[in-house]
Amino acid sequence: MLRVEGRHALSGTVRVSGSKNAALKLLAAATLTGERCRFTNVPEIEDVRVMAETLRDLGVVVDHPVPNVYEIASGDVDWLFVPLEAAAKMRASFILLGPLLARFGRVIISNPGGDRIGRRPVNLHVDAMRALGAEIEYRNGYYFARSPGRLRAGRVTFPAVSVMGTENAMLAATLADGRTTIHPAAQEPEVDDLIDFLCAMGAEVSRSAPDTIQVVGRRRLRGAEHRVASDRIEAGTFVVAAAVTGGQLTLEEAPCAQLGAFLDVVHDVGVDFTCQDDRIVVRGVDPALKPYRSRDIATAPYPGLATDLQPPTCVLLTQAEGVSRVHETIFEDRLEFIGELVRMGADVSLADDQHAAIRGRTGLHGAELEIGDLRAGASLILAALAAEGTSLIHGEHHVQRGYENIEGKFHDLGARMTRLPEGAPTEGSPASA
Ligand code: UD1
Repeated sequence: MLRVEGRHALSGTVRVSGSKNAALKLLAAATLTGERCRFTNVPEIEDVRVMAETLRDLGVVVDHPVPNVYEIASGDVDWLFVPLEAAAKMRASFILLGPLLARFGRVIISNPGGDRIGRRPVNLHVDAMRALGAEIEYRNGYYFARSPGRLRAGRVTFPAVSVMGTENAMLAATLADGRTTIHPAAQEPEVDDLIDFLCAMGAEVSRSAPDTIQVVGRRRLRGAEHRVASDRIEAGTFVVAAAVTGGQLTLEEAPCAQLGAFLDVVHDVGVDFTCQDDRIVVRGVDPALKPYRSRDIATAPYPGLATDLQPPTCVLLTQAEGVSRVHETIFEDRLEFIGELVRMGADVSLADDQHAAIRGRTGLHGAELEIGDLRAGASLILAALAAEGTSLIHGEHHVQRGYENIEGKFHDLGARMTRLPEGAPTEGSPASA
């Protein structure tokens, strides 16, 4: 449980960690070769630990010599089975389908559960593997995938853009026989980070158009070293933290160029910031004295506004004067956390699962809150930092899945945030106040 005392302006410098969504796919990609791969700037987060454990259970050697460095050697993998346990903890375990199938010709992999955001199907991944010649059957919650010989390169055409679907297809195609075209391919920067690593392994992967990826299959790939790119979602979260607390923050290793749509919103609502050479300086003002301006937002695949930054942006919009309409276009249920914001005094009406209207500015107040998933969790922490009084936040393990040392980072910036064991006495809590 986290105890957060709000309305203290944050100040100082914070270094943005390596990207979760890049790191998980990079670790999986290392199974495409028997040679050793080395990754630096890997975030120390729960999802990475789950991926490392899942790989070890397959017989892959995963070394973690020092913080933020992982070394992977997938010489002998004879247990080609990704169990329900891994899939239930983390949906991204499904990214192992493509590389294991391509390299070993078979895998049994559980249908993932993961975050409770919408239904989160994997049909696009499965169809992509079939387009590459795989035979896949579904029985008792498991996909049984095999490829009698090498996968056959071909055209992978998605009915809608999928980030992990694109990545799974790309990983599988690197060892397939011939040239594969993936269209429409996701344009997220994490996909390009994966392309860079695959090329370092000797794969031939490139974008022939922003939404088209070409892969020429190779018989084998070699080991390589790679530094994980910065986490644009974490960077966006700290930008909002500065804005809603009226704080002054400098973000280092912040991928400015990847935050265009988000920073457009931040600019339009009137937050003062500069963004140069992967350094973002945010000069927030206390919204109680000078509220920000309302702004409608709609999430979209990259280069649009990231759905992962929608919840933090909603917290910012509670501190803006006027009505902001929010349209979540990617996932169902990603507005569920709004209920918790309302309990903190936000004035939000939900038209349906994907549309909300936020009326501001409202002075938020502390409350006892329950985190439902990763991105919602980060935004409830932001709301608690902006709120008058103390909040108790349960379920912070969801946030540790994706944010490295979030509590320590906020603490170093002057946030009044403490971790308490569940059930600890909570002096000054909203319940006892
Ligand atoms: C990735 C990110 C996640 C981010 C999301 C969208 C990782 C580990 N996670 O998730 O943080 O929020 O991109 O930017 O990288 N869909 C299907 N069938 C499928 C696959 C997806 O219908 O087989 C649908 C989804 O329900 C969703 C949409 O396609 O509505 C986009 O999802 P997708 O891009 O695949 O998200 P992920 O790759 O799972």
